Amino acid sequence: MTIKLPMLNADAKPDAEEPSRRGFLVNYPHFRHWRPEAATAFAEPKPLNVYVHVPYCVQRCAYCFYKVTTLGDNRKAQIDRYVDALCTEIERVSERFHLREQPVETIYFGGGTPTLLSKDNLSRVFDTLHRCLNIAEPEITVEAEPVTLIQTKADHLQSLGVSRISMGIQSFKDEIVSQTGRVDTEAHMLRAIEIAMGTGAAVNIDLMSGLAGETDETWDYSVTRAIESGVHSLTVYKTEIYPNSSYYAGIKRNTLLLPTDDDELRYTKHAIERFEAAGYEAVNFFTFVKHKSYMQRHATNSWRGGEIYGFGVSAFGMMHGTTLQNSSEIGRYIDHIEAGELPLARGYQLSARERMTRDLALGIKLLRFDRVEFRRRYGYDVMDVCGPTISALAEEGYVELLDDTLAMTRKGMLWGDYVGHNIVAAMEG
Ligand SMILES: C[S@@+](CC[C@H](N)C(=O)[O-])C[C@H]1O[C@@H](n2cnc3c(N)ncnc32)[C@H](O)[C@@H]1O
Ligand code: SF4
Repeated sequence: MTIKLPMLNADAKPDAEEPSRRGFLVNYPHFRHWRPEAATAFAEPKPLNVYVHVPYCVQRCAYCFYKVTTLGDNRKAQIDRYVDALCTEIERVSERFHLREQPVETIYFGGGTPTLLSKDNLSRVFDTLHRCLNIAEPEITVEAEPVTLIQTKADHLQSLGVSRISMGIQSFKDEIVSQTGRVDTEAHMLRAIEIAMGTGAAVNIDLMSGLAGETDETWDYSVTRAIESGVHSLTVYKTEIYPNSSYYAGIKRNTLLLPTDDDELRYTKHAIERFEAAGYEAVNFFTFVKHKSYMQRHATNSWRGGEIYGFGVSAFGMMHGTTLQNSSEIGRYIDHIEAGELPLARGYQLSARERMTRDLALGIKLLRFDRVEFRRRYGYDVMDVCGPTISALAEEGYVELLDDTLAMTRKGMLWGDYVGHNIVAAMEG
């Protein structure tokens, strides 16, 4: 049972005409609301989602904003030292925060390019995770660049229990890919997809909708190839331009012309229509799956406010309502570990209102937001906390307000996090 909370009312006057000293307020809420189920639920260990960051890449792609490192001659020694630090961090953090008590639901190896790690290094990290955490049968995702996914590496991932492989394709057109600085070719990418599917893992591929040189024809070609590849999951990212990318420098120097926002919207709309016609179903505003069971649980759990611990340089997560992030420089990260310290650099403890904002703004990425669960968790309906903004978004066709659900419309999907940004602005305003 939930306690019915009144609307916040700063002007409320005392009830009783006559003040009284009787009725000592022992606690809040009153004991009559306390239930055994709540105690049982409290005693249950909270599921844990684990993120592991591998910052190395074959090349720095022209559009990429991630903080990644490409390596020269001493590559093996550098990566070995990083993996040493990573394993030590997992041991130290697990002990310090009693992570063994939390059953691991998902593990996500992101980057960078985790498949750049040697088989030995991958085994060391997996051994450490198994030794230090409570791992039964979690979803295990590994991000891969096609050029790194050779058969022996894929066999090794399979032997380690990897259940999802997420591969950056970006485009199936060789002339577009080569302009990004990547060495992958269409033939290479199709072979890597075949190898990934051969492991029995669920395979996702990423396309990017705003790359230099894209036209309606090249985009349709990539979308067609993506569907024909038969992968379980398809993701379309809008190209984001950040100052640390060479795309940004090209735009500044007027040497690079990218598709316009209108082009990108048209490409995204086209992809959605083609994916749906081919039987793929949207599970968030940028990912489409052949069947709901292929939906990635790691990001879903994070957007629903689950516990996430991030290991590795710049990795971040959220534990017990506090966000946490490690040092963002590899050297500093390793120094902290080698000095016997935790590499944590910053964090933020969310207030109750900020947790509501986070749940709503990130939760709506999943297209259907559960109003009933929100009321159960916070005692307020979404309309109590963000009514005028949601009504305006509904009038403009970005969301639909149903009895138990706030649903994102097709228009909302095309505009990505527009709904989320508006919710944040309203809740912070
Ligand atoms: C860490 S990478 C995936 C694995 C591997 N490093 C690769 O590129 O194949 C994750 C994805 O981020 C996306 N991405 C990178 N830079 C982006 C940008 N500027 N805007 C949107 N998406 C981007 C790409 O689609 C890429 O596949
Ligand atoms: S897109 Fe992937 S391979 Fe390219 S720089 Fe970014 S993380 Fe590395």
